[in-house]
Amino acid sequence: MDNSATSFPKPPAVTEAMVAFANDCGASAGRGAYREAKACEEILALCRQRVAELINAESPERIVFAMNCSEGLNTAIRGLLNTAGPRSHAIATAMEHNSVLRPLNALAEQTGLQPEFIACDSQTGLVDPEAIRQAVRPETKLIACVHVSNVTGTLQPIDQVAAVARQAGVPCLIDAAQSVGHVPIDVQSLGADFVAFPGHKGLLGPLGTGVLYVKPGAESFCPTMKEGGTGTISEVPTQPTTMPDKYEIGSHNAIGLAGLNEGLAWLAERGVESLRQHDMKLCEAFLAGTDGVENLTVYGPRDLRHRTGVFSVNVHGLTPHELAERLEQQFGILSRPGIHCAPLAHKTIGTHPVGTCRLSFGAFTTLEEIRTATDALRQIARGV
Ligand code: ALA
Repeated sequence: MDNSATSFPKPPAVTEAMVAFANDCGASAGRGAYREAKACEEILALCRQRVAELINAESPERIVFAMNCSEGLNTAIRGLLNTAGPRSHAIATAMEHNSVLRPLNALAEQTGLQPEFIACDSQTGLVDPEAIRQAVRPETKLIACVHVSNVTGTLQPIDQVAAVARQAGVPCLIDAAQSVGHVPIDVQSLGADFVAFPGHKGLLGPLGTGVLYVKPGAESFCPTMKEGGTGTISEVPTQPTTMPDKYEIGSHNAIGLAGLNEGLAWLAERGVESLRQHDMKLCEAFLAGTDGVENLTVYGPRDLRHRTGVFSVNVHGLTPHELAERLEQQFGILSRPGIHCAPLAHKTIGTHPVGTCRLSFGAFTTLEEIRTATDALRQIARGV
């Protein structure tokens, strides 16, 4: 139950495709004219196509491969803000992960950027889009918002946040680390300029894979923060401006993308909407199984429309690490204790600096496993 860190298990075809790549292909896309290099190009093209279809991107070249979600987020944040000037202002929420907090805070030191983190509701973790609207200034150069909190599972109203950004004429970045593959996302109706997400969580691919979606035209106002070989127009010593080459430097993690291809195929067959329905049933069972248990606190929204299967819990009298240890040793349940790289989210729900113990569900989590987890939590809470 640590699918928020990385999903497990993966569909068997993911591993099979990676083994086949290693044994039968072993080439690098764009770095050779032989059959294997072309086969590798086809793997990347198929992966781009499948990601684009999953999020309804305008075309496959809007999909930029990265090593993880953090790298995709950095490409957008650094690109937009590195040269934005000392009094520039950026808005994000208090529920952001360090992958957004840290680049913004580093830029505050390095360039004088003024980041502002909008307070969220202490019970639900929800942000009020109106508070974001009111924070916008003429100097605001970015509005960033996490789609689903990796601490509380809070599902933020990103459509409204993106609409606020559009009306204000400010670039909008969505961190979809915990939502892609769990909740349907349509980037065209969302209208955000950038959406970053990992390949190794909800998309069921291997570690070392991630994506930055770039809305058509957004590349024109987001300079590169890294330059290098692309395997295209090699005679030109400056970075291509065409997509996705502008932001994809060096050899790809082709073996990882070969695996991701199969995670995407599995998702397309199963359907993200049906996974969302399954996740809501798991959430309902978890909430029911933990309701009213003495010594046990469950954080985040209770309304299923505003949450996904990421649950932070605490048992009075135990530290989150002690609770995680008991869950593992007594019940074989794997969780993640601590601050989850999201210190302001924990401040929001009042669990900083000790944190919580987090249980996070995935595509293969069953109702029976939820019952095992809630029984375990009840048993532990009764014993302290
Ligand atoms: N951000 C990931 C998590 O929440 C790694 O565990």
